[in-house]
Amino acid sequence: MREIITPGGALEGTVRLPGDKSISHRYGMLAAVAEGVSTIHNYSSGADCHSTLGCVRSLGIEVEIDGRQVKVHGRGIHGWQAPATDLDAGNSGSTIRMISGLLAGQPFTSRLIGDESLSQRPMQRIMGPLTQMGATLTARDGKFPPLEIQGADLQPIDYTLPVASAQVKSCVLLAGLTANGETTVHESATTRDHTEVALREFGVDIETGRGWARVKGPARLEARELTVPGDISSAAFFLVAGAIVPGSKLVLQDVGLNPTRATLIEFLVSTGVDVKILDMRMSNGEPRGDLLVQGSQLKGGLIEKQWAAALIDEIPVLAILGAVSSEGLTVRDASELRIKESDRIETVATNLRKMGVTIETTPDGFYIPGGQTFHSAEVESYHDHRIAMAFAVASLRADGPVAINGSEAASVSFPEFWSTLRGIIS
Ligand code: S3P
Repeated sequence: MREIITPGGALEGTVRLPGDKSISHRYGMLAAVAEGVSTIHNYSSGADCHSTLGCVRSLGIEVEIDGRQVKVHGRGIHGWQAPATDLDAGNSGSTIRMISGLLAGQPFTSRLIGDESLSQRPMQRIMGPLTQMGATLTARDGKFPPLEIQGADLQPIDYTLPVASAQVKSCVLLAGLTANGETTVHESATTRDHTEVALREFGVDIETGRGWARVKGPARLEARELTVPGDISSAAFFLVAGAIVPGSKLVLQDVGLNPTRATLIEFLVSTGVDVKILDMRMSNGEPRGDLLVQGSQLKGGLIEKQWAAALIDEIPVLAILGAVSSEGLTVRDASELRIKESDRIETVATNLRKMGVTIETTPDGFYIPGGQTFHSAEVESYHDHRIAMAFAVASLRADGPVAINGSEAASVSFPEFWSTLRGIIS
């Protein structure tokens, strides 16, 4: 599909985001190994989180879906049945990498597959620790899906993450739930801690400190009623849109503000974005609040070191902000961008150049000079949801209509993105 955005005037309105993708995956998986029926409100409408539900269904778990409300009939940590078919993770790296941790401790073999993009994403990062714990994993060329996991009685480990990755941290902690003893994961850069928070909510005894988390297996999880906050990474598109279009005023409702994700707000403020948290509340251990963003004078900035890990999903849309800021944007230490749903350094650069914007790429980042103009152009999503949405935001500051080909990619995390965007363009 193709969407054509014709830039107009100031943006105005109230935006409701889909349920947070990271939290929805975790609640879906943990509810499936909990004992009893969990009810999850505001579960992400995105295809990725529905891939997770599809996988747990294939493992014999009953899942009732009623719009954004999901009921999962958990059968306990060893209640899953050997799947009769391949488990399809679709486009979702979070599904395949996190559910593998739970599958590694099951008394059966499972095979995980994905779409073309997922079939090119590296799995050694989870194969290493799960093999150390005693499971047997095989993958195409030793690293890509399909991924076959022969479960085992797992040994606990003390594991230091070689890459800053919440998916890998979560995979090892989830495997630790079935292992006999204490499993500890150490990280040198802080990554999102939704797994740790969610495990506590499901009644698991989990200890955490600065840079480490520890679970004790075998664990017992209790069914819960939970509400997922709005997705801050989806909010990022509207935060940047509101900031770059002069005179705009947008309210984003009920956005998840977990400190490991709200770094985005801190960064936006540092670049000059006029964004305010209107109120803060807490549910299920996750802070949330409404945000107000207004058209802003933008300075630009630098993303490197621990900021690169914290902002990894938002960098495509921050590139758009960088191009119209006064000083531009430099990104370093972000080579992980090259192995996301697309090579996001190349896909951002190619689309920016199509719009007449200058960018210099490096192996682990890029530099975009400020004060640039987006020109009318035809760009591609490259089957990557965040690229489709980032360039929809760029089109709001273009000097004419912009066509975004492959716009359906947005539905991986935000199926309502295009209608929401049209609703705020005056
Ligand atoms: C995620 C972690 C990040 C992020 C992804 C979601 C998660 O991936 O990019 O969109 O939910 O844990 P990595 O763990 O590969 O950094």
